[in-house]
Amino acid sequence: MSVTSVVGLQWGDEAKGKIVDLLTEQHDVVVRYQGGNNAGHTVRFAGKTYKLSLLPAGILREGITSVIASGVVINPKALLAEIDSIASQNGAMKGNLWISDRAHVIFPYHMQEEAVLEKRRKGEAIGTTMRGIGTCYRDKAGRTHAIRMGDLYYPENLKRHLAEIVDDKNLIIRALDPEAQPLDATAIFDEYQNYAAKLKPMVTDTNTLLHKALRDKKRILFEGAQGSLLDIDHGTFPYVTSSNSSGCGIHSGSGVPERVIDRMIGVVKAYTTRVGGGPFPTELDNEIGQHIRDVGHEYGTVTGRPRRCGWFDAVATGFGARISGVDCIAVMLLDVLSQLDEVMICDAYEIDGERTTDFPSHVSELAKAKPVLRKMPGWKTDITNVTRPGDLPKAARAYVDAISELLEAPVDIVSVGPDRERTIYMR
Ligand code: GDP
Ligand code: IMO
Ligand code: MG
Repeated sequence: MSVTSVVGLQWGDEAKGKIVDLLTEQHDVVVRYQGGNNAGHTVRFAGKTYKLSLLPAGILREGITSVIASGVVINPKALLAEIDSIASQNGAMKGNLWISDRAHVIFPYHMQEEAVLEKRRKGEAIGTTMRGIGTCYRDKAGRTHAIRMGDLYYPENLKRHLAEIVDDKNLIIRALDPEAQPLDATAIFDEYQNYAAKLKPMVTDTNTLLHKALRDKKRILFEGAQGSLLDIDHGTFPYVTSSNSSGCGIHSGSGVPERVIDRMIGVVKAYTTRVGGGPFPTELDNEIGQHIRDVGHEYGTVTGRPRRCGWFDAVATGFGARISGVDCIAVMLLDVLSQLDEVMICDAYEIDGERTTDFPSHVSELAKAKPVLRKMPGWKTDITNVTRPGDLPKAARAYVDAISELLEAPVDIVSVGPDRERTIYMR
Protein backbone atom coordinates (compact mmCIF):
# COMPACT_ATOMS: atom_id res chain seq x y z
CA MET A 1 0.00 0.00 0.00
CA SER A 2 1.63 3.24 -0.99
CA VAL A 3 -0.94 5.97 -0.31
CA THR A 4 -2.95 5.81 2.91
CA SER A 5 -5.28 8.27 4.57
CA VAL A 6 -6.45 8.50 8.15
CA VAL A 7 -9.75 10.26 8.77
CA GLY A 8 -11.88 10.69 11.91
CA LEU A 9 -15.47 9.50 11.49
CA GLN A 10 -17.02 11.24 14.51
CA TRP A 11 -16.73 14.74 15.99
CA GLY A 12 -12.93 14.76 16.27
CA ASP A 13 -10.43 13.47 18.85
CA GLU A 14 -10.84 9.85 17.70
CA ALA A 15 -7.10 9.27 18.38
CA LYS A 16 -6.04 9.89 14.78
CA GLY A 17 -2.63 10.98 16.12
CA LYS A 18 -1.90 7.51 17.49
CA ILE A 19 -2.83 5.77 14.21
CA VAL A 20 -0.87 8.22 12.07
CA ASP A 21 2.17 7.76 14.31
CA LEU A 22 1.93 3.95 13.99
CA LEU A 23 1.70 4.19 10.21
CA THR A 24 4.56 6.68 9.72
CA GLU A 25 6.91 3.72 9.88
CA GLN A 26 5.50 2.46 6.58
CA HIS A 27 5.46 5.84 4.80
CA ASP A 28 7.87 8.47 3.46
CA VAL A 29 5.68 11.58 3.48
CA VAL A 30 3.01 12.67 6.00
CA VAL A 31 0.56 15.40 4.95
CA ARG A 32 -1.82 17.65 6.89
CA TYR A 33 -4.28 19.08 4.35
CA GLN A 34 -7.05 20.97 6.25
CA GLY A 35 -7.81 22.64 9.56
CA GLY A 36 -5.19 24.45 11.57
CA ASN A 37 -4.18 24.77 15.19
CA ASN A 38 -7.72 23.87 16.25
CA ALA A 39 -6.45 20.28 15.99
CA GLY A 40 -4.73 18.56 18.88
CA HIS A 41 -3.22 15.18 18.03
CA THR A 42 -1.62 13.18 20.82
CA VAL A 43 1.22 10.75 20.16
CA ARG A 44 2.74 8.62 22.93
CA PHE A 45 5.81 6.43 22.80
CA ALA A 46 8.84 5.59 24.90
CA GLY A 47 7.14 7.07 27.96
CA LYS A 48 6.74 10.51 26.37
CA THR A 49 3.62 12.35 25.23
CA TYR A 50 3.67 14.75 22.28
CA LYS A 51 0.84 17.15 21.49
CA LEU A 52 0.76 18.14 17.84
CA SER A 53 -1.42 20.86 16.50
CA LEU A 54 -0.20 22.06 13.09
CA LEU A 55 2.77 19.76 12.60
CA PRO A 56 2.08 16.42 10.90
CA ALA A 57 2.82 13.47 13.19
CA GLY A 58 5.62 12.42 10.81
CA ILE A 59 7.75 15.14 12.39
CA LEU A 60 8.52 12.77 15.28
CA ARG A 61 10.21 10.13 13.11
CA GLU A 62 13.62 10.29 11.48
CA GLY A 63 13.69 10.46 7.69
CA ILE A 64 10.02 11.38 7.15
CA THR A 65 9.03 14.37 5.01
CA SER A 66 6.23 16.34 6.66
CA VAL A 67 3.97 18.57 4.60
CA ILE A 68 1.49 21.26 5.61
CA ALA A 69 -0.50 21.48 2.39
CA SER A 70 -2.55 24.24 0.77
CA GLY A 71 -5.86 23.56 2.53
CA VAL A 72 -4.48 24.23 6.01
CA VAL A 73 -4.86 27.66 7.67
CA ILE A 74 -1.63 28.67 9.37
CA ASN A 75 -1.01 30.83 12.39
CA PRO A 76 2.74 31.40 11.91
CA LYS A 77 3.30 32.40 15.53
CA ALA A 78 1.68 29.17 16.75
CA LEU A 79 3.58 27.13 14.15
CA LEU A 80 6.96 28.55 15.19
CA ALA A 81 6.16 27.96 18.87
CA GLU A 82 5.21 24.35 18.08
CA ILE A 83 8.39 23.78 16.07
CA ASP A 84 10.43 25.07 19.03
CA SER A 85 8.51 22.99 21.53
CA ILE A 86 8.80 19.74 19.52
CA ALA A 87 12.48 20.39 18.83
CA SER A 88 13.17 20.81 22.54
CA GLN A 89 11.16 17.70 23.56
CA ASN A 90 12.32 15.45 20.77
CA GLY A 91 15.98 16.44 20.72
CA ALA A 92 15.48 17.97 17.28
CA MET A 93 12.83 18.13 14.58
CA LYS A 94 13.27 14.83 12.78
CA GLY A 95 12.97 14.89 9.00
CA ASN A 96 12.00 17.80 6.79
CA LEU A 97 9.05 20.13 7.03
CA TRP A 98 7.49 21.81 3.99
CA ILE A 99 4.76 24.45 4.13
CA SER A 100 2.48 25.33 1.24
CA ASP A 101 2.80 28.82 -0.23
CA ARG A 102 -0.94 28.54 -1.04
CA ALA A 103 -1.98 28.00 2.60
CA HIS A 104 -3.92 30.92 4.08
CA VAL A 105 -2.54 32.87 7.02
CA ILE A 106 -4.31 33.53 10.32
CA PHE A 107 -3.85 37.08 11.69
CA PRO A 108 -4.72 38.56 15.11
CA TYR A 109 -7.91 40.13 13.70
CA HIS A 110 -9.19 36.64 12.89
CA MET A 111 -9.08 35.70 16.56
CA GLN A 112 -10.54 39.05 17.61
CA GLU A 113 -13.38 38.83 15.10
CA GLU A 114 -14.19 35.27 16.14
CA ALA A 115 -14.28 36.20 19.83
CA VAL A 116 -16.77 39.01 19.12
CA LEU A 117 -18.97 36.85 16.89
CA GLU A 118 -19.05 33.92 19.30
CA LYS A 119 -19.88 36.23 22.24
CA ARG A 120 -22.80 37.74 20.34
CA ARG A 121 -24.31 34.31 19.63
CA LYS A 122 -24.62 33.71 23.39
CA GLY A 123 -26.43 30.36 23.95
CA GLU A 124 -26.12 29.52 20.26
CA ALA A 125 -22.34 29.93 20.14
CA ILE A 126 -20.60 27.28 18.05
CA GLY A 127 -18.14 26.73 20.89
CA THR A 128 -15.10 27.08 18.63
CA THR A 129 -11.49 26.70 19.69
CA MET A 130 -11.04 30.51 19.27
CA ARG A 131 -8.03 30.04 17.01
CA GLY A 132 -9.38 32.21 14.18
CA ILE A 133 -10.00 29.15 12.01
CA GLY A 134 -13.51 30.00 10.80
CA THR A 135 -12.77 33.70 10.27
CA CYS A 136 -9.64 32.87 8.25
CA TYR A 137 -11.51 30.36 6.04
CA ARG A 138 -14.27 32.97 5.67
CA ASP A 139 -11.73 35.46 4.31
CA LYS A 140 -10.30 32.75 2.05
CA ALA A 141 -13.74 32.18 0.51
CA GLY A 142 -14.34 35.95 0.33
CA ARG A 143 -10.92 36.48 -1.35
CA THR A 144 -10.66 40.27 -0.90
CA HIS A 145 -9.32 40.12 2.69
CA ALA A 146 -7.18 37.00 2.38
CA ILE A 147 -3.41 36.60 2.66
CA ARG A 148 -1.59 33.38 1.75
CA MET A 149 1.82 32.20 2.91
CA GLY A 150 3.32 33.09 -0.47
CA ASP A 151 2.09 36.71 -0.12
CA LEU A 152 4.35 37.19 2.91
CA TYR A 153 7.32 37.33 0.52
CA TYR A 154 6.04 40.34 -1.46
CA PRO A 155 6.48 42.94 1.32
CA GLU A 156 5.42 46.06 -0.62
CA ASN A 157 2.12 44.54 -1.71
CA LEU A 158 1.62 42.94 1.67
CA LYS A 159 2.08 46.21 3.54
CA ARG A 160 -0.50 48.00 1.39
CA HIS A 161 -2.98 45.12 1.45
CA LEU A 162 -2.64 44.57 5.18
CA ALA A 163 -3.28 48.30 5.86
CA GLU A 164 -6.57 48.09 3.90
CA ILE A 165 -7.61 44.86 5.58
CA VAL A 166 -6.83 46.07 9.10
CA ASP A 167 -8.79 49.30 8.46
CA ASP A 168 -11.84 47.28 7.47
CA LYS A 169 -11.44 44.77 10.29
CA ASN A 170 -11.18 47.57 12.86
CA LEU A 171 -14.43 49.05 11.50
CA ILE A 172 -16.25 45.72 11.60
CA ILE A 173 -14.96 44.67 15.01
CA ARG A 174 -15.64 48.07 16.62
CA ALA A 175 -19.17 48.11 15.18
CA LEU A 176 -19.90 44.78 16.84
CA ASP A 177 -18.01 45.53 20.04
CA PRO A 178 -17.36 49.22 20.79
CA GLU A 179 -14.96 48.24 23.59
CA ALA A 180 -12.63 46.28 21.28
CA GLN A 181 -9.09 47.64 20.96
CA PRO A 182 -8.21 48.63 17.37
CA LEU A 183 -5.32 46.76 15.76
CA ASP A 184 -2.26 48.43 14.24
CA ALA A 185 -1.42 47.34 10.68
CA THR A 186 2.23 48.41 10.87
CA ALA A 187 2.85 46.45 14.05
CA ILE A 188 1.21 43.35 12.51
CA PHE A 189 3.25 43.77 9.33
CA ASP A 190 6.52 43.96 11.28
CA GLU A 191 5.59 40.97 13.44
CA TYR A 192 4.64 38.83 10.42
CA GLN A 193 7.77 39.82 8.45
CA ASN A 194 9.74 38.33 11.31
CA TYR A 195 7.75 35.06 11.21
CA ALA A 196 7.99 34.97 7.41
CA ALA A 197 11.78 35.21 7.50
CA LYS A 198 12.01 32.29 9.95
CA LEU A 199 9.66 30.08 7.93
CA LYS A 200 11.04 30.99 4.49
CA PRO A 201 13.34 27.97 4.02
CA MET A 202 10.29 25.69 4.45
CA VAL A 203 7.75 27.50 2.27
CA THR A 204 7.27 25.93 -1.15
CA ASP A 205 4.73 24.77 -3.73
CA THR A 206 3.63 21.59 -1.97
CA ASN A 207 1.32 20.53 -4.83
CA THR A 208 4.35 20.12 -7.07
CA LEU A 209 6.28 18.47 -4.24
CA LEU A 210 3.52 15.89 -3.65
CA HIS A 211 3.13 15.05 -7.33
CA LYS A 212 6.88 14.59 -7.60
CA ALA A 213 6.71 12.27 -4.58
CA LEU A 214 3.95 10.26 -6.30
CA ARG A 215 6.02 9.97 -9.48
CA ASP A 216 8.98 8.79 -7.38
CA LYS A 217 6.72 6.11 -5.83
CA LYS A 218 7.05 7.62 -2.37
CA ARG A 219 4.57 6.29 0.18
CA ILE A 220 2.26 9.11 1.28
CA LEU A 221 0.14 9.24 4.42
CA PHE A 222 -2.65 11.82 4.75
CA GLU A 223 -3.41 12.93 8.32
CA GLY A 224 -6.96 14.21 8.70
CA ALA A 225 -7.84 16.72 11.40
CA GLN A 226 -11.22 17.04 13.17
CA GLY A 227 -13.80 14.44 12.11
CA SER A 228 -16.33 13.70 9.36
CA LEU A 229 -19.29 15.01 11.41
CA LEU A 230 -17.53 18.40 11.73
CA ASP A 231 -17.22 18.71 7.92
CA ILE A 232 -18.38 22.15 6.70
CA ASP A 233 -20.51 20.66 3.90
CA HIS A 234 -21.67 17.34 5.29
CA GLY A 235 -21.45 17.71 9.09
CA THR A 236 -23.86 18.99 11.72
CA PHE A 237 -23.95 22.54 10.32
CA PRO A 238 -23.51 25.15 11.75
CA TYR A 239 -21.88 23.23 14.64
CA VAL A 240 -18.96 22.20 12.48
CA THR A 241 -15.50 23.43 11.64
CA SER A 242 -14.84 25.53 8.52
CA SER A 243 -13.07 22.96 6.35
CA ASN A 244 -13.84 19.61 4.70
CA SER A 245 -12.75 17.46 7.61
CA SER A 246 -14.19 14.25 6.12
CA GLY A 247 -12.36 12.31 3.42
CA CYS A 248 -13.79 14.88 0.98
CA GLY A 249 -11.06 17.37 1.97
CA ILE A 250 -8.03 15.36 0.86
CA HIS A 251 -8.20 16.24 -2.82
CA SER A 252 -9.08 19.92 -2.39
CA GLY A 253 -6.67 20.41 0.50
CA SER A 254 -3.60 18.78 -1.03
CA GLY A 255 -4.07 18.80 -4.80
CA VAL A 256 -3.60 15.04 -4.80
CA PRO A 257 -6.55 13.27 -6.47
CA GLU A 258 -8.50 10.90 -4.29
CA ARG A 259 -8.17 8.01 -6.77
CA VAL A 260 -4.50 7.56 -5.84
CA ILE A 261 -5.44 6.61 -2.28
CA ASP A 262 -5.01 2.87 -1.77
CA ARG A 263 -6.37 2.63 1.74
CA MET A 264 -8.72 4.94 3.60
CA ILE A 265 -8.73 4.21 7.35
CA GLY A 266 -11.70 5.52 9.33
CA VAL A 267 -10.82 6.14 12.98
CA VAL A 268 -13.53 5.85 15.64
CA LYS A 269 -13.63 5.95 19.39
CA ALA A 270 -15.35 2.95 20.98
CA TYR A 271 -17.85 5.54 22.29
CA THR A 272 -18.59 9.14 21.26
CA THR A 273 -17.25 12.50 22.36
CA ARG A 274 -17.92 16.04 21.24
CA VAL A 275 -16.45 19.41 22.29
CA GLY A 276 -18.41 22.61 21.77
CA GLY A 277 -22.08 23.10 20.85
CA GLY A 278 -24.52 21.14 18.70
CA PRO A 279 -26.87 18.16 19.06
CA PHE A 280 -25.48 14.84 20.31
CA PRO A 281 -28.18 12.14 20.41
CA THR A 282 -26.28 9.55 22.49
CA GLU A 283 -24.87 12.05 25.03
CA LEU A 284 -24.75 10.71 28.59
CA ASP A 285 -25.34 13.60 30.93
CA ASN A 286 -25.07 11.27 33.94
CA GLU A 287 -22.61 9.22 36.01
CA ILE A 288 -21.79 6.88 33.10
CA GLY A 289 -20.82 9.91 30.98
CA GLN A 290 -18.69 11.18 33.84
CA HIS A 291 -17.12 7.73 34.27
CA ILE A 292 -16.12 7.68 30.58
CA ARG A 293 -14.76 11.24 30.88
CA ASP A 294 -12.67 10.28 33.92
CA VAL A 295 -11.34 6.97 32.60
CA GLY A 296 -10.74 8.29 29.08
CA HIS A 297 -9.27 11.61 30.30
CA GLU A 298 -11.77 13.30 28.04
CA TYR A 299 -10.62 16.89 28.31
CA GLY A 300 -9.71 18.83 25.15
CA THR A 301 -6.08 18.74 23.98
CA VAL A 302 -6.33 22.30 22.64
CA THR A 303 -8.65 24.17 25.03
CA GLY A 304 -8.79 21.85 28.07
CA ARG A 305 -12.61 21.89 27.93
CA PRO A 306 -14.36 18.76 29.30
CA ARG A 307 -15.53 16.70 26.31
CA ARG A 308 -19.18 15.68 26.18
CA CYS A 309 -19.33 11.85 26.29
CA GLY A 310 -21.90 9.30 25.12
CA TRP A 311 -22.53 5.84 23.66
CA PHE A 312 -21.22 4.78 20.27
CA ASP A 313 -23.57 6.18 17.63
CA ALA A 314 -23.61 3.92 14.57
CA VAL A 315 -26.10 6.17 12.73
CA ALA A 316 -23.86 9.24 12.94
CA THR A 317 -20.59 7.32 12.56
CA GLY A 318 -21.98 5.20 9.71
CA PHE A 319 -22.82 8.44 7.89
CA GLY A 320 -19.27 9.66 8.55
CA ALA A 321 -17.90 6.39 7.15
CA ARG A 322 -20.02 6.64 4.00
CA ILE A 323 -19.11 10.23 3.11
CA SER A 324 -15.43 9.55 3.78
CA GLY A 325 -15.53 6.26 1.88
CA VAL A 326 -13.54 4.08 4.25
CA ASP A 327 -11.92 0.73 3.47
CA CYS A 328 -11.44 -0.27 7.09
CA ILE A 329 -11.90 0.93 10.66
CA ALA A 330 -9.63 1.52 13.65
CA VAL A 331 -11.57 1.25 16.94
CA MET A 332 -9.79 3.31 19.59
CA LEU A 333 -9.95 3.59 23.39
CA LEU A 334 -11.82 0.27 23.79
CA ASP A 335 -10.14 -0.09 27.23
CA VAL A 336 -12.09 2.92 28.53
CA LEU A 337 -15.30 0.85 28.57
CA SER A 338 -13.77 -2.12 30.41
CA GLN A 339 -15.30 -1.42 33.81
CA LEU A 340 -18.93 -1.06 32.67
CA ASP A 341 -21.49 -3.80 33.41
CA GLU A 342 -23.15 -3.22 30.06
CA VAL A 343 -22.41 -1.15 26.98
CA MET A 344 -24.77 0.33 24.42
CA ILE A 345 -24.61 1.02 20.71
CA CYS A 346 -27.11 3.31 19.03
CA ASP A 347 -28.18 1.53 15.85
CA ALA A 348 -31.15 3.74 14.87
CA TYR A 349 -32.85 7.03 15.75
CA GLU A 350 -36.46 7.64 16.55
CA ILE A 351 -37.56 11.03 15.23
CA ASP A 352 -41.20 12.08 15.76
CA GLY A 353 -42.10 8.44 16.44
CA GLU A 354 -40.47 7.21 13.19
CA ARG A 355 -37.48 4.92 13.24
CA THR A 356 -34.61 5.72 10.87
CA THR A 357 -30.98 4.82 10.23
CA ASP A 358 -30.45 7.89 8.04
CA PHE A 359 -28.49 10.74 9.58
CA PRO A 360 -30.62 13.93 9.49
CA SER A 361 -29.32 16.82 7.38
CA HIS A 362 -30.81 19.51 9.63
CA VAL A 363 -29.69 20.04 13.22
CA SER A 364 -33.28 20.65 14.35
CA GLU A 365 -34.15 17.10 13.27
CA LEU A 366 -30.99 15.71 14.86
CA ALA A 367 -31.87 17.53 18.09
CA LYS A 368 -35.15 15.58 18.19
CA ALA A 369 -33.49 12.19 17.56
CA LYS A 370 -33.88 9.66 20.38
CA PRO A 371 -31.26 6.93 20.19
CA VAL A 372 -32.47 3.35 19.78
CA LEU A 373 -29.93 1.47 21.91
CA ARG A 374 -28.64 -2.07 21.47
CA LYS A 375 -27.65 -3.34 24.90
CA MET A 376 -24.57 -5.56 25.11
CA PRO A 377 -22.84 -7.21 28.08
CA GLY A 378 -19.68 -5.56 29.37
CA TRP A 379 -16.42 -7.53 29.60
CA LYS A 380 -15.35 -6.31 33.05
CA THR A 381 -11.73 -7.30 32.38
CA ASP A 382 -8.60 -5.23 31.99
CA ILE A 383 -7.74 -5.48 28.27
CA THR A 384 -4.82 -3.06 28.16
CA ASN A 385 -2.28 -5.90 27.82
CA VAL A 386 -4.09 -7.72 25.02
CA THR A 387 -2.09 -7.76 21.78
CA ARG A 388 -3.78 -10.60 19.84
CA PRO A 389 -7.41 -10.63 18.62
CA GLY A 390 -7.91 -14.13 20.07
CA ASP A 391 -7.10 -12.83 23.56
CA LEU A 392 -9.89 -10.26 23.63
CA PRO A 393 -12.73 -11.25 25.99
CA LYS A 394 -15.74 -12.61 24.06
CA ALA A 395 -17.95 -9.66 25.01
CA ALA A 396 -15.33 -7.14 23.85
CA ARG A 397 -14.96 -9.03 20.56
CA ALA A 398 -18.75 -9.03 20.12
CA TYR A 399 -18.78 -5.27 20.68
CA VAL A 400 -16.09 -4.69 18.04
CA ASP A 401 -17.89 -7.04 15.63
CA ALA A 402 -21.12 -5.07 16.11
CA ILE A 403 -19.31 -1.84 15.19
CA SER A 404 -17.89 -3.51 12.09
CA GLU A 405 -21.31 -4.86 11.06
CA LEU A 406 -23.04 -1.51 11.55
CA LEU A 407 -20.36 0.52 9.73
CA GLU A 408 -20.19 -2.12 6.97
CA ALA A 409 -16.40 -2.19 7.06
CA PRO A 410 -13.79 -4.51 8.58
CA VAL A 411 -12.10 -3.49 11.81
CA ASP A 412 -8.35 -3.72 11.15
CA ILE A 413 -7.05 -2.16 14.37
CA VAL A 414 -8.27 -2.09 17.97
CA SER A 415 -6.50 0.22 20.39
CA VAL A 416 -6.41 -0.51 24.13
CA GLY A 417 -4.12 2.24 25.42
CA PRO A 418 -2.36 5.41 24.28
CA ASP A 419 1.08 3.85 23.68
CA ARG A 420 2.24 2.35 20.38
CA GLU A 421 2.38 -1.17 21.88
CA ARG A 422 -1.23 -1.10 23.07
CA THR A 423 -2.52 -2.03 19.65
CA ILE A 424 -4.27 -5.15 18.33
CA TYR A 425 -3.99 -5.87 14.60
CA MET A 426 -7.19 -7.76 13.81
CA ARG A 427 -6.25 -9.12 10.35
P1 GDP B 1 -6.89 13.07 17.79
O1 GDP B 1 -7.19 14.52 17.80
O2 GDP B 1 -7.85 12.30 16.95
O3 GDP B 1 -5.47 12.75 17.42
O4 GDP B 1 -7.11 12.55 19.28
P2 GDP B 1 -6.62 13.29 20.66
O5 GDP B 1 -5.17 13.18 20.76
O6 GDP B 1 -7.21 14.65 20.74
O7 GDP B 1 -7.38 12.42 21.73
C1 GDP B 1 -7.14 11.05 21.88
C2 GDP B 1 -6.65 10.75 23.31
O8 GDP B 1 -6.76 9.38 23.60
C3 GDP B 1 -5.19 11.09 23.52
O9 GDP B 1 -5.01 11.56 24.83
C4 GDP B 1 -4.49 9.74 23.33
O10 GDP B 1 -3.23 9.64 24.02
C5 GDP B 1 -5.49 8.82 23.95
N1 GDP B 1 -5.53 7.47 23.39
C6 GDP B 1 -5.27 7.05 22.13
N2 GDP B 1 -5.57 5.75 21.98
C7 GDP B 1 -6.00 5.31 23.19
C8 GDP B 1 -6.49 4.06 23.66
O11 GDP B 1 -6.62 3.08 22.95
N3 GDP B 1 -6.86 4.03 24.98
C9 GDP B 1 -6.79 5.09 25.80
N4 GDP B 1 -7.17 4.94 27.06
N5 GDP B 1 -6.36 6.28 25.37
C10 GDP B 1 -5.98 6.40 24.08
P1 IMO C 1 -8.77 17.10 16.25
O1 IMO C 1 -8.00 17.18 14.96
C1 IMO C 1 -12.53 17.96 18.32
C2 IMO C 1 -14.65 21.63 17.18
C3 IMO C 1 -14.70 22.76 18.18
C4 IMO C 1 -16.05 23.37 17.81
C5 IMO C 1 -16.07 23.23 16.29
C6 IMO C 1 -15.62 24.48 15.54
O2 IMO C 1 -7.95 17.18 17.47
O3 IMO C 1 -9.71 15.94 16.22
P2 IMO C 1 -13.26 25.63 15.15
O4 IMO C 1 -12.28 26.21 16.12
O5 IMO C 1 -12.69 24.55 14.29
O6 IMO C 1 -13.96 26.69 14.35
O7 IMO C 1 -14.40 24.96 16.08
O8 IMO C 1 -15.19 22.16 15.98
N1 IMO C 1 -13.28 21.15 16.87
C7 IMO C 1 -12.78 19.99 17.30
N2 IMO C 1 -13.30 19.05 18.10
N3 IMO C 1 -11.33 17.76 17.76
C8 IMO C 1 -10.80 18.68 16.93
O9 IMO C 1 -9.64 18.47 16.25
C9 IMO C 1 -11.51 19.88 16.70
N4 IMO C 1 -11.27 21.00 15.96
C10 IMO C 1 -12.37 21.76 16.07
O10 IMO C 1 -14.70 22.28 19.50
O11 IMO C 1 -17.10 22.59 18.32
MG1 MG D 1 -7.65 16.04 19.17
